[in-house]
Amino acid sequence: MAEAVLGGSAEDVSIKEAGLRYEVDGEIATITLDRPEKRNAQTFATWSALARIGDDLPEQVRIVVVQGEGPSFSAGIDLRMFTPEGVPGQGSFSSVAQLDNVSFEQRIEQAQQGFLWLRRPEIVSIAAVHGHAIGAGFQLALACDLRIVADDVKFCMKEPALGLVPDLTGTKPLVDLVGTAKAIDICLTARFVDAEEAFRIGLAERVVSGGELTQAVRDKAAELLSTNRDAATATKRLLQGARGRTLEEQTAAERVEQAARIKALFAVS
Ligand code: CAA
Repeated sequence: MAEAVLGGSAEDVSIKEAGLRYEVDGEIATITLDRPEKRNAQTFATWSALARIGDDLPEQVRIVVVQGEGPSFSAGIDLRMFTPEGVPGQGSFSSVAQLDNVSFEQRIEQAQQGFLWLRRPEIVSIAAVHGHAIGAGFQLALACDLRIVADDVKFCMKEPALGLVPDLTGTKPLVDLVGTAKAIDICLTARFVDAEEAFRIGLAERVVSGGELTQAVRDKAAELLSTNRDAATATKRLLQGARGRTLEEQTAAERVEQAARIKALFAVS
């Protein structure tokens, strides 16, 4: 019972069965949400497979691209979760609602692991977003470091309209990117944010036409790969920590990272 309710079998589902494609080409890994006929709706199996990809990411990978097949990046969580039958082998919200709080929170934590690794300092993750990015789809785009979007993009944080909160790691990056007031506006209205607004408020780094999206992401990956790998990792670590530190703490962190860099580059053994 607990296994089915917890979606334990989601762990055993292959990447393909979880609705994903995954390719590694040298320093670039590409994850494609690949259930276009269901608008790349996501399940616990999707998040478990994403976490496994993160765990097994080859060391040489520096760039991770997340994209969607078909007309939408992702229509969010599989709506079968809201039905009594749920998603086969993964339960439903009504079955999950029977869990005690600790077990339930553990289940969400497992799902969040599919998103959190995309922020690792050793990689830069790029979401290539087109069409709808709703709920879990929006949060997956927010889990990435950069968002390059097609001009037909429509972001929507649908959860509050469905009686839920966004819980797949999206709230902090959203606030960091657009500020608390705009995040409240976007989430509590569950309205659509189009490409022009996404660019204007800092949700998207770049807007291109749908036909240019793949090339725009390739170009950004090439630019990112042109810098020194270890320096890029250390710099990302510094930038990620900057908001949580005072100027004094940040400058101290810069000194520590730079000492390590200069020693690595110039120390005579
Ligand atoms: N789950 C399961 N199936 C979905 C789906 C979803 N989230 N979204 C779309 N589909 C299915 C449709 O049922 C349809 O299947 P059939 O052909 O078998 O009928 C197929 O995908 C195509 O869908 P549409 O005909 O609706 O496609 P469209 O291009 O006209 O519209 C859309 C696209 C605007 C994304 C629309 O499908 C839609 O609104 N989907 C639901 C979005 C939603 O509410 N998602 C939940 C977000 S909240 C969340 O994600 C919560 C969380 O993390 C906890």
